[in-house]
Amino acid sequence: MTTISSIDQQFDVLIIGSGAAGLSLALRLADHASVAVISKNRLEEGSTFYAQGGISAVLKPGDSFDSHIEDTLAAGVGLCDPAAVKFTVEQAPQNIQWLIDLGVPFTTDQHRDGKRDFHLTREGGHSHRRVIHAADATGKALSTTLVTHARHHNNISLFENRIAIDIITGKKLKQHSDTVHGAYILNRDTEKVETFRSRCVVLATGGANKVYLYTTNPDGSTGDGIAMAWRAGAEVANMEFMQFHPTCLFHPEAKSFLITEAVRGEGGKLLLPNGEQFMHRFDSRGELAPRDIVARAIDYEMKRLGSEFVYLDISHKPAAFIKSHFPTIYKRCLEFGYDMTKEPIPVVPAAHYTCGGVKTDLNGSTNIKGLYAIGETAFTGLHGANRMASNSLLECLVYAEAACQDILGQLKQKATLPTIPHWDESQVTDSDEEVVVTHNWHELRQFMWDYVGIVRTNKRLARAKSRVNLLLNEIDEYYGNFKVTNDLIELRNLAVVADLIIQSAIARKESRGLHYSLDYPEASSTDTAKNTVLCPQTK
Ligand code: FUM
Repeated sequence: MTTISSIDQQFDVLIIGSGAAGLSLALRLADHASVAVISKNRLEEGSTFYAQGGISAVLKPGDSFDSHIEDTLAAGVGLCDPAAVKFTVEQAPQNIQWLIDLGVPFTTDQHRDGKRDFHLTREGGHSHRRVIHAADATGKALSTTLVTHARHHNNISLFENRIAIDIITGKKLKQHSDTVHGAYILNRDTEKVETFRSRCVVLATGGANKVYLYTTNPDGSTGDGIAMAWRAGAEVANMEFMQFHPTCLFHPEAKSFLITEAVRGEGGKLLLPNGEQFMHRFDSRGELAPRDIVARAIDYEMKRLGSEFVYLDISHKPAAFIKSHFPTIYKRCLEFGYDMTKEPIPVVPAAHYTCGGVKTDLNGSTNIKGLYAIGETAFTGLHGANRMASNSLLECLVYAEAACQDILGQLKQKATLPTIPHWDESQVTDSDEEVVVTHNWHELRQFMWDYVGIVRTNKRLARAKSRVNLLLNEIDEYYGNFKVTNDLIELRNLAVVADLIIQSAIARKESRGLHYSLDYPEASSTDTAKNTVLCPQTK
């Protein structure tokens, strides 16, 4: 018997993901189209909410678009798409103004003349102060503001505690055209699969950093959008460039709590366990070198010394300054027994950001008609081989605005949605062996950390590839026989994304940006540097 979905709904646009990218697109579209937003947990529970640093934009005299472009290109080590960088940088100020108009409470500063102005902080790779922020909890301020507006808009329907299973395309319905028609969504409360039909589907599910054992990201960062797009036939690019943030609090119970790069931007120093500063030995920019360089330097020193951490010290700054600029971090560190106004805090690198993703144009549009990807899910060409700090929330905003224009153009063309069969659960049963899913989750994240981490080798990647192949087969078999659950959907997505990361890392025969291989320690000539584009059709 086929189980009829308890919901079969239709909207102009289905947005999967409720972070900065998803919600800003929903708000921009909602005066013109009906919008559904799917959120895996509560609306706020995504990576955006936990972002500390801020949003980069040229906002003050003395800085320039050219400088922001140049810094982004330099951080991306020859692989940024100059058109994407220029577009993003030039759209930044108007997007910041949009947020200010919505009421995001950015931190201000009193000047000598008594006037208040927005405080701009510095982060690695930026040659100017250009990061607008809300103390050390920018994501929380942004997310709260967007959620409040979204909850009050009549044309936005919000569906929380639901996880997307797969996108429905013409191909899936055995049609000739490869157009998107909606998605199957698991309601985590009722455990029923619901059918959402729509003219456009937007993937804004964030990154895939949960593929690693240690990550700064919340639990939901399981690469759902990237895996669904790949299964639907979308191109995926540059998945080898997984960014490790240099500084997470080292404590067994801290669950990779991020210590924002702005701490180093405001003068924080990295120290070895014996108190010696070391970053100047690796890069003349010291603590403010781009993240790939800082994370690799820390990894090198930890391995050399057999140490489990290094220290980050900002205690030379006045306590009042530290408490007002970093209130969240100060409080959290105190909970673990560290007073950062008086002493250095122990830190380690952890997986932080997925620079690759679903390949899109400058409107967020993929190679499948009606399918868009924005934010961390997407590969727009902005980040190249390494994302510059605080360019990510910016990318969410800029491409949400661009996608909005493109989607409204698409919606003007007349089209009827086909009938979509309901999710078929007739062949599956409840599993009595949930341990398989839990075991595979751990195994995957452990071997990705050990073999596909900050420093890679051919041998380690080959080991990872054979393990992921086994897991993919096992998961496929499991997926076909048992009822879908949240954990199984996430595991299936993580395994797909892990495979894409490994394939891409194997394909890159050089070291560049975030991809460092002991077998190919040099970068190839910049003239021959190219993106790693994977196409499902040619797999
Ligand atoms: O260090 C941070 O606050 C992180 C910023 C970012 O990932 O852009």
